[in-house]
Amino acid sequence: MNRKEQIRLLKGLIEKLDNKTNVDAGGIMKVPAETYTCEKRFNNEWEVFFRNHPQVIGMSSDLPEKGSFFTINDFGVPILATRDSSGRFNVFANVCSHRAAIVESERKGNKEKFSCPFHGWTYSNEGNLIGYPKPDHFGEIDKSCYGLSSLPSLEKNGLLLINPNKDGKIDINELLGEELNNSLKNWNFSQLIHIKDDEFHTNMNWKLAIDTFGETYHFSVLHKNTLFENFHGNVQMQNSYGRNGLLTLCKREIDNMKSEPEENWNIIRGAMPVYYLFPNIILIILDFGIILLREYPTEMSPHKSVSKISYYVWPGVLDEISLEILKEEVGVGFGEIIRDEDYVAAADSHKGLMSGTIKELTFGRNEPMLHHYHQTYREALGLEPIEVFKP
Ligand code: FES
Ligand SMILES: [Fe+2]
Repeated sequence: MNRKEQIRLLKGLIEKLDNKTNVDAGGIMKVPAETYTCEKRFNNEWEVFFRNHPQVIGMSSDLPEKGSFFTINDFGVPILATRDSSGRFNVFANVCSHRAAIVESERKGNKEKFSCPFHGWTYSNEGNLIGYPKPDHFGEIDKSCYGLSSLPSLEKNGLLLINPNKDGKIDINELLGEELNNSLKNWNFSQLIHIKDDEFHTNMNWKLAIDTFGETYHFSVLHKNTLFENFHGNVQMQNSYGRNGLLTLCKREIDNMKSEPEENWNIIRGAMPVYYLFPNIILIILDFGIILLREYPTEMSPHKSVSKISYYVWPGVLDEISLEILKEEVGVGFGEIIRDEDYVAAADSHKGLMSGTIKELTFGRNEPMLHHYHQTYREALGLEPIEVFKP
């Protein structure tokens, strides 16, 4: 995010605080309950968003050095991500080309070679088959036809992107667009240092986790003893970048900052930018680093999901605080708040929706990020937009 945009957002927040207003979606919208509960809808989402859509699977520092790897299984295809000996990011189906066993079962680590636990076929971190026991029993097989199946991958501005469909594409310009690309580039995410990961499994639709980050209307109630102490509730700025968005939350520190000269202003000091990367990523910018949240359905169910949370710090932070302390302390408060407050409320909403007693959820004029996300979601699934109206 460039300086000019930082100042524009901060001035927008100050103006809204002074006038006791908020961003205005121009009306309210009602989202049908089936958005969250319908099995058929879920199957459609799974195909469009999770099997065949580019996905952010982490940040560059999840693969900090040559030989680093990690495995995930959030898209129905087991995935092995590596940084090979030339430093290149690669992504493969973590499936042995001999008899389809899962090749690597560790969650992360550093390896040059991956040996399948079934019969010992071995692959390089560039995905090539480099050996197999008792080769005379196979004769001269063409090793080049037996590498790990490669998936589309791209490392860009510190983000690791893949397409779970091996015939799919990742067009970064189509995905993010120039303005958002530049906004993300200015943060220098490639310098971040990965600290730790966490995950919360919840009995709710994956989009309810996303919705909870889309407004601050709830701060003075749900977070009255936590976040509300440091944030003004119900004041935010909202940017749209095609299907993606940016919600800028307002910190109480803005009250001190606004009386200082503009050169002292800093978006991180007075606000908290939250990027929505369509369809399932929330990326939060903080003073110490960033928090990346990836929301996934689990058990092929519209009623169960997991929030995968990764914490990263800016390089300077390590000069002040040791890695051991950071691993213990970073994100503890944040994790507790979303687990014990946001996701509890969201899981209750899911129960309420499942009761069948309410047919629609209503998004107010003060929740434009939710308007944008849900209209975009519908457009991406080929559904009609929802009418926004003034009651
Ligand atoms: S299935 Fe992997 S070596 Fe046989
Ligand atoms: Fe919240």
